[in-house]
Amino acid sequence: MNNTCPEERFEAIDILKAASLDRYKMLMASIVPRPIAFVSTLNDQDKANLAPFSNFMLISSSRAIMAFSVGSPTGNDRLAKDTLNHIRKRGEYVINLAPDTLASQVQACAEDCPPEVSEADKVGLTMIASHVIKTPRIAECTIQYECKLEDIRQYGEAHLVVGYAVYAHARKGLVRDFKIDPREYAPLARIGGRVYCKLGDLINV
Ligand SMILES: Cc1cc2nc3c(=O)[nH]c(=O)nc-3n(C[C@H](O)[C@H](O)[C@H](O)COP(=O)(O)O)c2cc1C
Repeated sequence: MNNTCPEERFEAIDILKAASLDRYKMLMASIVPRPIAFVSTLNDQDKANLAPFSNFMLISSSRAIMAFSVGSPTGNDRLAKDTLNHIRKRGEYVINLAPDTLASQVQACAEDCPPEVSEADKVGLTMIASHVIKTPRIAECTIQYECKLEDIRQYGEAHLVVGYAVYAHARKGLVRDFKIDPREYAPLARIGGRVYCKLGDLINV
């Protein structure tokens, strides 16, 4: 039993006054584990571009609305990440959900790749056609949501991409009566940097 007064158990951190890298480190390390939207888009040459985004959430189940945020690119002179540019132009994309066996491929797709090189070929993933939209999905992912763009809004340095699913695909046998066994699903999640995690113990209350 901890008898100290509640206030003494905490360290006050003035998060808005912290250096931006420190703020980033603390926020990213505390909001964990994060699900990963492994996003496929089409570039101007109709080649598939793949990139993971772990600032990702479901917004509305009634309209199947999901969002992920795209930060500013680092280390080069691009104004925006390719995924954001492609979605702005095409208005569509696929959110692929990766199994926990796919961490290396997900990580490899976060590295810069020239537009003429197929990321899928480079990392050994297979692109297959979607049903409603033109953008293909990743065959090795367990679930894929074909999405159309609803809205892009800027917050700070990041752009929040909000879209809705128009069609879904799930590995055969995984979805029964619209329910999913989390153990069978075994989704990959992100901690930070090159560290990922899979589902640990489940807590039933
Ligand atoms: C697991 C993982 C999650 C990531 N999540 C995000 C994210 O939420 N937002 C973001 O801007 N970048 C994120 N990144 C970095 C992007 O994937 C990376 O900048 C990528 O090169 C963007 O590719 P693009 O230019 O083809 O869009 C993540 C990287 C990894 C490995």
